[in-house]
This record gives sequence, C-alpha cells and structure tokens, in this order.
Amino acid sequence: MTAAQDDSLLMSERAIADRVLVQEYLAHEHLAKQHNKDDLRASKERIKALLQEQDAVLVAHYYTDAVLQELADETGGCVSDSLEMAKFGNQSDASTLVVAGVHFMGETAKILNPEKRILVPTLEATCSLDIGCPADEFSAFCDAYPDHTVVVYANTSAAVKARADWVVTSGIALQLVEHLAAEGKPIIWGPDQHLGRYIANQTGVDMVLWQGSCIVHEEFKVKGIDDIKQVYPDAAVLVHPESPQAMVDIADVVGSTTQLIKAAQNMPNKHFIVATDRGIFYKMQQATEDKVFIEAPTGGSGATCRSCAHCPWMAMNDLRKLEHVLRTGDNKIHIDPQLRQAAYKPLKRLLDFQPK
Ligand code: 13P
Ligand code: SF4
Repeated sequence: MTAAQDDSLLMSERAIADRVLVQEYLAHEHLAKQHNKDDLRASKERIKALLQEQDAVLVAHYYTDAVLQELADETGGCVSDSLEMAKFGNQSDASTLVVAGVHFMGETAKILNPEKRILVPTLEATCSLDIGCPADEFSAFCDAYPDHTVVVYANTSAAVKARADWVVTSGIALQLVEHLAAEGKPIIWGPDQHLGRYIANQTGVDMVLWQGSCIVHEEFKVKGIDDIKQVYPDAAVLVHPESPQAMVDIADVVGSTTQLIKAAQNMPNKHFIVATDRGIFYKMQQATEDKVFIEAPTGGSGATCRSCAHCPWMAMNDLRKLEHVLRTGDNKIHIDPQLRQAAYKPLKRLLDFQPK
C-alpha cells in the first residue's frame, strides 16, 4: 500500500468512526436539545398528564426523535411505520390522536377517523414525495391512461389519494402489485419512482411511473458503503426501497422500515450499514443486543458534513411543539368531507387487503 493510499484509508476510517458515533449521538440527541435532564423529565411528565387529561394517544413514526418514540412507548401509544400508524389510530379508543410524523400521516389518521380529533406537533412537516405530486398534475397524468389502476404511496395528499384506486405503503406494495397484476390490470404507480422501479423489477410488472423521489433516500451513495465495508467486512447493508437502484443492487436486505428492523434482529451480523433515516436506530437498538448500526453515507468521500440521513420534516417534531398542541388544541387536521369520502375508499382497501 502506498503512503497516499494508507492516508486515504485512515481518513475513511476516521469518517467511519464518526458515523458509528452517531449512535451515541442519537441516544443523547434529545438531551442535548433540552437544557438538562430535569427539564426533560419535567417536560415528559407534563405531556403524560396532558395526554391523559385530553384522552389522547401519541402515534409516532420511527423517524422521529428518540424522545418522542420513548414517550409514545411509555404512554401506551405507538411507534411504527406508516401502515401500522394508520392501523393503530383506527383501532384506538382515544378521542384524540397526536400524530408525530409528517403531514400525510396526520391526514391519513383523519381520513380513517373523521370523528376523532387529530393533532400534529407542526403543520409544516411535509414530505418531498407529497410536494412533488400536485393533485391536479397527477390527475391529468392518470387521465392519459384511462384503463390503468392507479396505485399511490401513502406519502401523498388526501387529494392525490382521492384520485387513486389503491393506497399502499412500502411494507405491502410487493404483495399488492402482485395481486393486481394477477387480475391482469395495467398499473400507474406514484409518486416514488425508486420504490416503483423496485416493485416493478421484483414483480416483473410493467408499471407507468410518476417521477417523484424522497430527498433523504435519494442521497445514499454506494462508494461510501464500499469504504465502510473495508473496515467492517461483515457488515450487512439494509436499504429502504426509496433509495436509488445502485443501492438496491448492493443491499443484503431491501425493505420497509419495519422489515429493516426485523432484519437487524434476525440476521447474525454484528454490524449493519443502514440506508434509511437514522431515527430508526432507536428501535433497532431496542430490538437487538450488542449490534452496531452505522449510518449509510449520503455525501461523497470528500464531503465535509458527516451525513444527512435525517428527514428535515420528521425532525420538526419535538417535545415543546407536542406540549403546545396538547395545551391549545392548535394544529388540528381538517379535511373537506367530500374529499375525505373519496380518499377513504382506496385507504380502506389497503387496510382490508390480506396478502396471501
Ligand atoms: P414507511 O412506510 O416504511 O414507514 O416509510 C415512510 C417514509 O416516509 C419512508 O421515508
Ligand atoms: Fe418523505 Fe423522505 Fe421524509 Fe419519508 S424520509 S417523510 S419519504 S421526505
């Protein structure tokens, strides 16, 4: 090995050590956001009392801050992927659901539970897939294929769902597309092109794809994974299917958030390189013992920032905003009743769908 090669390997080892440290960072991230441990404890206690007082439950996505996930667990709420969040909200007896995630998750809860009050810590938390799929443009796109069944990802607005025949999540998309293909129907898929291509490749079903993407998953880079594998050759690569094809090609497991947590639990490997939002580390660590999770790199090898594998909109959810909405009732989700009725049908189909 030349001195230059040796130096570049050392550099990459240093960068990798930084990524492993993300785990410790995550565990203490919420503490850093608060002034001290006492503040954090007091804030959690106030929120617990408010949840009880308001007959509310906290429904949090895996990508939210660890402290919100912890609070949901401690108060009989739920921490899960978007499909399970919808199912949990639908089965809950609470009259208020506080949905910590992004806007479409709050809307999904309202579409399924019109009689419940749905609060979100911030109305500004959106999703690049939702932004990149305006309902009028998507509807015109579908009009060009009148004989096609329209399948949309849950990461869409109520108006886009209302234009669809089916709503899916990444956890069930493969089985659902196989089911529709067996009925011989051509399919339009929107909005995530990477998930759509992955499903098309896996099932052999030729789908018409809307060209949306997730700004977080789209950034994962194969080159950085190769560097980490030099240091941890045993590391298994876990990839969410919203990632580019090159990432899917090198993955040991491709799956939804819940499927990736299960893989981390069941595989014998000690190290895992995880190509999805790093909020998931909280549950991965909880579900495993002595395993090390390494954040998949998003920058190239010369990048100066450590990584950006964190959804900026999921990151908007915090304890202060959560307490505020429970105290004030602000940030209620409203959906026009006619639109709700139209969006309900494809969502209900998703909940009723039983994979074979
Ligand atoms: P899941 O459906 O796996 O929860 O994913 C939602 C999401 O936003 C992924 O980026
Ligand atoms: Fe949307 Fe991507 Fe954020 Fe998920 S991670 S909510 S797909 S922007």
